[in-house]
This record gives sequence, structure tokens and C-alpha cells, in this order.
Amino acid sequence: MRHRRIIVTHYGGPEALQVIEEECPEPKHGEVRVNVLAAGVSLPDLMMREGIHPETPPLPFTSGWDLVGVVDQLGEGVSELEPGQVVAALPICGAYAEFVCLPHRELVPVPSGLDPAEAVSLVLNYITAYQMLYHSAKVRTGQRVLIHGAAGGVGSALLQLGRLAGLELYGTCSSRGVSAVSGLGGIPIDYQHQDFVTEIHRLTGHGVDVVFDGIGGTHIWRSRKALRPGGMVVAYGLTGSLRGGRLASGRSGGRHRFRAIIIFGLYIAGGWLFPGRRRVVPYSIQWLKRLKPSWFRQDLITLFDLLQQQKIKPLIAQRFPIAEARQAQELLGKGGVTGKIVLIHNES
Ligand SMILES: NC(=O)c1ccc[n+]([C@@H]2O[C@H](COP(=O)([O-])OP(=O)(O)OC[C@H]3O[C@@H](n4cnc5c(N)ncnc54)[C@H](OP(=O)(O)O)[C@@H]3O)[C@@H](O)[C@H]2O)c1
Repeated sequence: MRHRRIIVTHYGGPEALQVIEEECPEPKHGEVRVNVLAAGVSLPDLMMREGIHPETPPLPFTSGWDLVGVVDQLGEGVSELEPGQVVAALPICGAYAEFVCLPHRELVPVPSGLDPAEAVSLVLNYITAYQMLYHSAKVRTGQRVLIHGAAGGVGSALLQLGRLAGLELYGTCSSRGVSAVSGLGGIPIDYQHQDFVTEIHRLTGHGVDVVFDGIGGTHIWRSRKALRPGGMVVAYGLTGSLRGGRLASGRSGGRHRFRAIIIFGLYIAGGWLFPGRRRVVPYSIQWLKRLKPSWFRQDLITLFDLLQQQKIKPLIAQRFPIAEARQAQELLGKGGVTGKIVLIHNES
């Protein structure tokens, strides 16, 4: 049996993505072959394509952090799952394919009846949001939080989960995202026309308890200025490294990768050393999953439960067939996308 898979042929723009057709992979001992129903398209995919994400694998590789699919074939030694069962996973790369083989331990059962595109939105974006809220910031009802990129994939998840937690929510966005942010219960701040530090102090008096900063670089230090004393910036992304979906710096991907990590480290150390008791803490879904795999599984089960009860509703920006991964990444790179872009299997 043959299948299609998308590969990144070189570090660069969307032209680096190519569709190939090949024999379906065979599951090894302990693995399961999954027929992918939905794969998420996210900024970390674009960063890996550009070669600037710390997890970028050697070339050529297949993009795709998150997937939902159907168990197709069990490798030897696997008895916990059954063919036909719907499962979710965060392989970090490899999800832009019709079939993928993964270790059975990586797969989390998905309750029946969920839309695969909505379910896949939970695996990267909502887990990131949930774990930052509850494991990093340990938020409490009534706290004030500022969410950067609040109309984006992770940002809109933070708004929905923050509302459930009873938080007072502020969100930066471009003018295109204002209605989405207020619709999700946030007070929008248009970052292109307003200074968010001034605006937060005007609106709150003393600043916010937590800032979620996925923009990175020097932006983290400005986020720290929006905190009240004792507050915390959770730094988790490098959106500012890209402009129009390409490298903002014009520097080669590899060099940028290390520079960005060093800047992150300096701000985290600075958060402790500078006066004012305002901390900067990093969050990484992949590192937390490696250190605490049971948290990832349990948190995803909790989120599937919230989706089933319709307490959360992921925003789906657009669905593309898997062979149009390049167009999907081009759209995400242009900016102004509200919610999650998803690649879907033709029949899902
Ligand atoms: N650490 C982790 O474990 C982890 C996990 C998931 C994602 N991430 C990171 O999280 C970040 C967000 O990912 P995503 O998938 O949510 O991306 P996304 O859906 O593209 O959202 C990014 C949002 O940021 C907005 N934005 C761009 N520049 C901004 C600025 N200067 N100020 C405020 N908002 C700005 C964009 O709005 P406009 O286009 O309208 O300007 C967009 O809505 C990425 O850097 C990603 O790598 C990290």
C-alpha cells in the first residue's frame, strides 16, 4: 500500500515542502501504524522549516507536531490498542503524512464523536495553554493575565481556558484579531497601534499577575514591565523571529537557533537578578512531556473531557487536504489567522 508524505527538502520558505509518494511504513516492535485524520499546522512547523526551532531534525524531514488518527495496524508486542480506535499524539515531527508509525506509549485514546480537527487543536495548542496556566503560573481565580498573540492558536486556547479559570484577561492582537479576542472574553490591546506596557498599567493600575509571552527576544523584557511586583512572565515562543512566515533577521537558521536560546537564558537569569521580584520562567511542551509524560497524558484526557462537555471550542481557521500543506503554511505565515489551521485526510 502506498501513501503520501510531505518532506522539508532544505531550510527555507514554503517552497521547501514537497509531496512524495512511497510505500506505507511498517510498524516495528512496540509501534502502531496510525492513519492520520488531522494534523495541526503551527508556527513551530514554520520555525523547523526555517531551521530555527531548537527541535529541528536533520534534513530531509517531515513536519507536523500534532495529530489525530485511526489505529491501522499493531506492531508486535502491542496489545493495549485496537485497530479502528481513534488516538492522538504529539510526535513533534512526522504528522504531515497519511500514515505514520509511532511507539504505542505515545498514543492517547480520543473519545468517540469528536471532530478530528477540533481534537487535534488540543494536542499542541491547548496542552501548551493548560500546562502554562496550571503547572507554570499556577493561576488562581480573579488573577489578571496578559496574553500576547491572543487571537492565535495558543493565545485563543489561553483565553478559553483562562475564562473557565475565572481570570481577568487582557490580550494583544493586531486589528484583525480584536473581535475574536473580545468574543473570547479578553480585553483586546492592538499591539500595532498601542504600547501594551502603558496600556496595561492604565487599565490595571499595578500591572498583571502573569504575562504569557510567545513573541520572544527583547519582547520578554517589555512583558516583564507589564507585571505587578511578584508577577511572572511565562516565556514560550519565538513568534518575533519570523516576519511574513520567513526569518525576520535574514540570518541562517542554525545561527539564529542558538542566539534565541541564549537570549532566553539571559532574560530568565535577569528575572532573578534584577530588583522588583518579577520572574521570567520558560515553558516547553516537549521538555515537560519528556520529564513528566504522565502529566501530558492526564492533561490531554482532561482537555478531551472539556471538549466533549462543550466547555471549550477550538477555533478552526481553515482545513486543507494534506497535499496542500504548502498553501496551509503560506497562509499561517501571512499572519492575521484566527485559531488553528488543520490538514485533514480527504475523507475525515
Ligand atoms: N514552548 C512551547 O511548548 C510552545 C508550544 C506551542 C507553540 N509555541 C510557540 O508559541 C508561539 C505561538 O504559536 P501559535 O501556534 O499560537 O501561533 P499563531 O497561531 O500564528 O499565533 C501567533 C499570534 O501572534 C500574533 N502576533 C505576532 N506578532 C505579535 C506581537 N508582536 N505582539 C502580539 N501578537 C503578535 C499574531 O497576530 P497577527 O498575525 O494578527 O499579527 C498571531 O495571532 C510560537 O512562537 C510557537 O513557536 C511554543
